[in-house]
Amino acid sequence: MNTSHMKKVAAEAALDYIDIGDVIGVGTGSTANAFIDLLPKVKGKIDGAVASSKATEERLREHGISVLDLNRTGPLPVYVDGADEATHNKHLIKGGGGALTREKIVAAASDKFVCIVDKTKLVDVLGEFPLAIEVIPLAQSLVSRAIIKLGGLPELRLGFTTDNGNIVIDAKNLDLKDAAAVEARLNGIAGVVSNGIFAIRPADVLIVGHETHADTL
Ligand code: A5P
Repeated sequence: MNTSHMKKVAAEAALDYIDIGDVIGVGTGSTANAFIDLLPKVKGKIDGAVASSKATEERLREHGISVLDLNRTGPLPVYVDGADEATHNKHLIKGGGGALTREKIVAAASDKFVCIVDKTKLVDVLGEFPLAIEVIPLAQSLVSRAIIKLGGLPELRLGFTTDNGNIVIDAKNLDLKDAAAVEARLNGIAGVVSNGIFAIRPADVLIVGHETHADTL
């Protein structure tokens, strides 16, 4: 299955959500990259972009898009980003690339979160994909024990530091049927910066790329 084509199909459909004069939020990962690569088409239309990671910042600059500071732009009209898993009610798991915290910040600052995925990402219940949790290094053991108490299997992402200088613990086996409750519970553990569940603030629009077309949910 050619997922890169389906990612591009979804990314193309997201261009419809951009208006003249917008400063847009842009996510991280291969699907977000497919979207960034299309931005030269609308370069004259947008006033710039806020990036959710250093990698995205770099790619935007390579395409001649001006990268702006979220503290100066104010609220954004739209944020476009991918996901590792998405449900029909637009709850997501993100953070496979480790950019979850900045992604959550930019999503929270945006009026509309347009999530773009290829059809392989659509699931009935979240949780097959390991859940990324960004943690202050000092709290690694404390947070790992708390994850085990919740029924999860924590694994340190080896050799990885986030753009914020923290570690990522990937948790498998968590029961995410009530995704918003688990999101809040994990955020309440001391030392957790954020986790990759996007259920408290889900996507507003989910674009699912297929071989020949995109579905918008
Ligand atoms: C980055 O931290 C992630 O949240 C990505 O948005 C997510 O992992 C999707 O990445 P791909 O588009 O590469 O599958």
